[in-house]
Amino acid sequence: MSSNPAVLREATRADVAWLVEAELACFPDEAWTRGMVADEFERPGGVQWIAEVHEGGQPVPVGFAFGWLVLGELHVLHIATLPARRRAGAGRTLLQALIQTPGTELCWLEVRADNTPAIALYTREGFEHIAVRKRYYSDGADAVVMRKVIELPA
Ligand SMILES: CC(C)(COP(=O)(O)OP(=O)(O)OC[C@H]1O[C@@H](n2cnc3c(N)ncnc32)[C@H](O)[C@@H]1OP(=O)(O)O)[C@@H](O)C(=O)NCCC(=O)NCCS
Repeated sequence: MSSNPAVLREATRADVAWLVEAELACFPDEAWTRGMVADEFERPGGVQWIAEVHEGGQPVPVGFAFGWLVLGELHVLHIATLPARRRAGAGRTLLQALIQTPGTELCWLEVRADNTPAIALYTREGFEHIAVRKRYYSDGADAVVMRKVIELPA
């Protein structure tokens, strides 16, 4: 873990320009467009986070997450850390924030079957592999469906 841990804040529409840049940096072959990112802020049940580190007294954004809560099910849509900022805990912090969205009973996601870092992160956070969707992605890659049941306090 970094000695300068990421701190989360809720993303707003004012972050769309940075989020579009970050999408391009983190998903070079399948980045969401400006319109897709902006639409996330209109989505009922949408949850958006930005992870920042503080450097020289200034917040520097390093990662982001988009989720969607519907009827107790939190769908992890996109979660990413800028390439130069990985393995310092931001991804885990973002994922934990999505999991802790009030009202979440179950968390689920699809991830490319060849995305070893993301599958390692999800597994470490208690997600289990429940299905494979063959040729789910436009390049023919399979998707793994993973889920985590949230234990709510009695
Ligand atoms: C997946 C991703 C979000 C992880 O972000 P990150 O900030 O590097 O993650 P963290 O530093 O919080 O890592 C948490 C744990 O996940 C696992 N993990 C993360 N990256 C890993 C890697 N490259 N190899 C193996 N395990 C990895 C480890 O268990 C790690 O804990 P550790 O560092 O103590 O060993 C990042 O690699 C990324 O942005 N990838 C591109 C976008 C993407 O594919 N997103 C997921 C699909 S939506």
